[in-house]
Amino acid sequence: MRTIGVFDSGVGGVSVLKEVIKEFPYDNIIYFGDSLHAPYGDREIEEIRALCLKVSDFLVYEKKVDAIVIACNTATGAAMHIMKGRYHIPVVGVVNNGVKEGIRVTKNKNIGVIATPATIKMDIYLKEFNRIDKNLNIYQVKCPLFVGMIEKGWIDNDESNQLIKGYLSNLPENVDTLILGCTHYPLIEKYIKRHFIGNIVDPAKETAKSLKLIIGEGASSKKISIKFFVSGDSQKFKEVAQEFLGTAIDEVEKIIL
Ligand code: SIN
Repeated sequence: MRTIGVFDSGVGGVSVLKEVIKEFPYDNIIYFGDSLHAPYGDREIEEIRALCLKVSDFLVYEKKVDAIVIACNTATGAAMHIMKGRYHIPVVGVVNNGVKEGIRVTKNKNIGVIATPATIKMDIYLKEFNRIDKNLNIYQVKCPLFVGMIEKGWIDNDESNQLIKGYLSNLPENVDTLILGCTHYPLIEKYIKRHFIGNIVDPAKETAKSLKLIIGEGASSKKISIKFFVSGDSQKFKEVAQEFLGTAIDEVEKIIL
């Protein structure tokens, strides 16, 4: 039976995990949330890279995973190219998959990207969009406070709604497609929808599908098993992850790498 490693800076990657579960119902999954170091998006690129490699080495060398899904945009930008060269297993990330979907759904070629400060600083979305189509207008907005609030368990109140509204007001009105350029943001998508009318792209679905194109269907007759590891508060992780997954999680193991 194969094992797929899903890795994020914290709880946000469960938005990708949800899609991986749908695509691979007969594989084992190991999820690692590096919540002790979340948000990655506020850190320097070199530091993010070092954190990512620690987690991926753990997944590859200790947990013997057969493929890695980097369920974090910041990590994808900082470390995916290094991870691809370091291991002899498939490594997929969220950014190119979000870009493909954004291009597919936009009608007027005006696309907004909301993401962490590090993702915006690396211009990973901008570069990937431009690589595919130079005639797109890409508007990037950093949302530094979202990840921390989601990790703590988002509270839907006036303050959080004003925060969303404030960030989105930085986008021009003609933007018809919004990329959730951070894997934490799908967890608050229903609140974002109150302030954005248009296509909302969550790269998670395409990311899971892209892995399926590479490794194919699982062939086991056994049902999926999922193990959770976090480097930070396991109880908080469990609460937020369960709410978003809509299913109970038996155990979340805390491990410091
Ligand atoms: C973060 O840890 O800052 C967010 C994860 C992401 O960029 O998807």
